[in-house]
Amino acid sequence: MPLIAPSMLASDFSRLGEEVRDVAGAGADWIHLDVMDGHFVPNITFGPDVIKAMRPHTDKVFDVHLMIEPVEPFIEAFAKAGADVITVQAEATHHLDRCLQHIRSLGKRAGVALNPATHESALAYVLDKVDLILAMTVNPGFGGQAFIPDVLPKIYRLRAMIGERPIHLEVDGGVTPETARLCAAAGANVLVAGSAVFRGGREGYAANIAALREAG
Ligand code: DX5
Ligand code: ZN
Repeated sequence: MPLIAPSMLASDFSRLGEEVRDVAGAGADWIHLDVMDGHFVPNITFGPDVIKAMRPHTDKVFDVHLMIEPVEPFIEAFAKAGADVITVQAEATHHLDRCLQHIRSLGKRAGVALNPATHESALAYVLDKVDLILAMTVNPGFGGQAFIPDVLPKIYRLRAMIGERPIHLEVDGGVTPETARLCAAAGANVLVAGSAVFRGGREGYAANIAALREAG
């Protein structure tokens, strides 16, 4: 069974605390938090203070996806805000190895995200320092975009690269029950979904999460 990580990007930002509680109560495994800076990606979301404010609302894993450049100066703030997994974009740092060591030194799980056009070889020499690999299945910046099927072969290759290592393989962007099935077949075990979870209002969250889990 894949883990389901609803992206709060698609929630009602005016009621973030309630939304976190509702989606956690509806069966989310992790809470995915998309941090955007208007520089690495063409959109701006929220920072560590907002994550800190969400933290008391659930014990679920906070899966923090940093789409910011530079990223190094902010890692500690996200760790202190209550992140459990901190994922950096491989394209946003010249010093990926250092970033990963830094995240682990703060007692957090370290993730690396790859944009759709980034080759999996970017990870070849850091595999033993990584707890999670995130294959972006849209170009990051916005929710509600269409899944890019060209990424599927990369997901298969990443699963093969991971081998026996205890590394999560996560997909993010355009994940619906249909595309969840393809991603899980390719080896993904964590599915991020924004629109597919939050559409239709809170009464639908549990069924939406269940549909993704069953498809995977
Ligand atoms: C995109 C974000 C995703 C996004 C997914 O930059 O990283 O997490 O919120 O949203 P959907 O599921 O709507 O594509
Ligand atoms: Zn994300």
